[in-house]
Amino acid sequence: MIQEAKLSYQCFDDSFLTACSDFGFAFPFFFLPAYAESMKLFMDTANVAHVAEVAAWGVLDGVTTNPSLVAKEGKDFRQTVLAMCKLVPCVSAQVTATDVEGMKAQAKEYARWHRNVVVKVPMTTDGLQVLAWCKRKGIRTNTTLVFSAPQAILAAKAGASIISPFIGRLDDAGEDGMALIGEIMAIWPHYGFTTEVLVASVRHPRHVVDAAAIGAHICTIPYDVFQKLPKHPLTDTGLKKFLDDWATVQKRNQPMKSRRLIAGK
Ligand code: G3P
Repeated sequence: MIQEAKLSYQCFDDSFLTACSDFGFAFPFFFLPAYAESMKLFMDTANVAHVAEVAAWGVLDGVTTNPSLVAKEGKDFRQTVLAMCKLVPCVSAQVTATDVEGMKAQAKEYARWHRNVVVKVPMTTDGLQVLAWCKRKGIRTNTTLVFSAPQAILAAKAGASIISPFIGRLDDAGEDGMALIGEIMAIWPHYGFTTEVLVASVRHPRHVVDAAAIGAHICTIPYDVFQKLPKHPLTDTGLKKFLDDWATVQKRNQPMKSRRLIAGK
């Protein structure tokens, strides 16, 4: 109990939580908002090698694919999804049918492939019906192509597990994509939506930081942007200086005899 409380309510210190337990009264968990451990990081790709590389960093929570990304890689869709399911716990696989029965059939099929599959459904009125049906069937869903707050509200009400507002494409169209994330995240706490907000169509590291600052639940990041996240020129120059100075220390500490031997004297 104390362990769970520490995870969820990091604003309280151990002694307060332990005292609650020692004096036999329950910590009033229901009064407090739950704090996520961190924003989840997904990769937006259909390239299995890229997923494996970043998964090895220990920071990858999932993958989002779409038909365009799958076409770019030119590999078998099912095999790609299955390979990714071995690397991360959440892989979005998009339906390509657009009618209700066709989408339901694909959703059922994808969900059978692996328990880590999340079925991606487009934000259409037929898509809303499929979201509600998937919810009843226990199939996790991700609503794609969300570009407005009304769409976000409808998808959440229909029972989507995740919604994906496309911020980069809004920016490209001269709108403010991150403002939409802010609007959605301001609406969510008023209600009991369990739908996670996934920031999609990310173009650069600043998008990732702004998504986290707003409190978005998930951010899906292209491989090239992922590569930029760990880098800073001061880290590189700082590490070089540390290693150069350490080499000087090693040299200074070498016994005089071995220094002479190395110098050939
Ligand atoms: O996977 C959906 C979304 O992230 C696509 O991004 O770069 O094609 O706008 P983009």
